[in-house]
Amino acid sequence: MPLNNKKIIVTGGPTREWLDPVRFITNPSSGKMGIALADKAAGRGQETVFIHGSINSDLLKNKSYRTVFVDTTTDLLNAVLKELTPNSVLIMAAAPVDYAPAVKSNTKIKKESGSDELIIKFKKNPDILMNVAGMREQHKGLKNIFIVGFAAETDDIEKNAVDKLNKKNLDLICVNDVRRKDAGFTADTNAVTMFTRLGERIQLPLMRKEEVASRILDQIELEMNFLNR
Ligand code: PMT
Repeated sequence: MPLNNKKIIVTGGPTREWLDPVRFITNPSSGKMGIALADKAAGRGQETVFIHGSINSDLLKNKSYRTVFVDTTTDLLNAVLKELTPNSVLIMAAAPVDYAPAVKSNTKIKKESGSDELIIKFKKNPDILMNVAGMREQHKGLKNIFIVGFAAETDDIEKNAVDKLNKKNLDLICVNDVRRKDAGFTADTNAVTMFTRLGERIQLPLMRKEEVASRILDQIELEMNFLNR
C-alpha cells in the first residue's frame, strides 16, 4: 500500500485574521472534513498529523494522531512547513483566510472615535499550497511529496477547480459546492468531485464526510501507485 510509509499531513478548519485584540475575520469551516480525513488516514499512513484552526474542541477528543492548533494563515503555513518531510502527503482541507488586515491595531478600535464608516485595508496572505508546490519544484529531495487541495466554489465550479489544480500545481483537487446546505461548510455530508493531475474526473455522490474521506484516500493511493511515488 503506497501510504504505508507516508507521513500524512491534513489541515482543517478556518484561520482567523485579527483586526484588533477583540475582532477577527474568518469563515464557517467547522473542521469536520479535515477531521474525517485525518481519522481515516490514521489507519493507513506511517504517521498522521492534523493541523487545525479554531474548531469545537469536542471534535478533537480521543484522537490517535497528533493535533496542532494554528490561528492565522501565516501560522498555518509555518506549521505545514515545519511538518513537511520528503515522504509527506499534504491534504489541505482547511479554509485559510486569503487576506489579512494590512495593519493590526494593538488596542481595541473604538467606535466612538471614528466616523460612521470603518475602512480597513487588507493585504494578501501567502498561499500555502503554492509555497509547498514551489518547494517541491525547487528541491529534488522533495519531489515525492503528494499534494491534495480542496476547492470551495460557488460558481463555474468545475472550471475553477481545474484552474486551481493547474495554477497551484497539485496532484489532486476535491471540489465542493459551498452554496449547498448538505455539502461544504459545517454539514456532516459532502458532495465532492475529484480532478487528477492526469486529467481524470471522479464524481462522488452525496455521502457522509467520513465516506468522502475514505474515497479521497483511495484515490490518492491509486494516483501514487500510478506515479510510482
Ligand atoms: O470544515 P468543514 O465545515 O467540514 O468544511 C469543509 C470545507 C468546505 C472547508 C472543505 O471541504 C474545503 O473546501 N476546504 C477548502 C476551503 C478553501 O479555502 O478553498 P479555496 O478554494 O479558497 O482554496 C483552494 C485550496 O487552496 C484549498 O485547499 C485551501 O486549503 C488552499 N489555500 C487557500 C488559501 C491559502 N492562502 N493557502 C492555501 O493553500
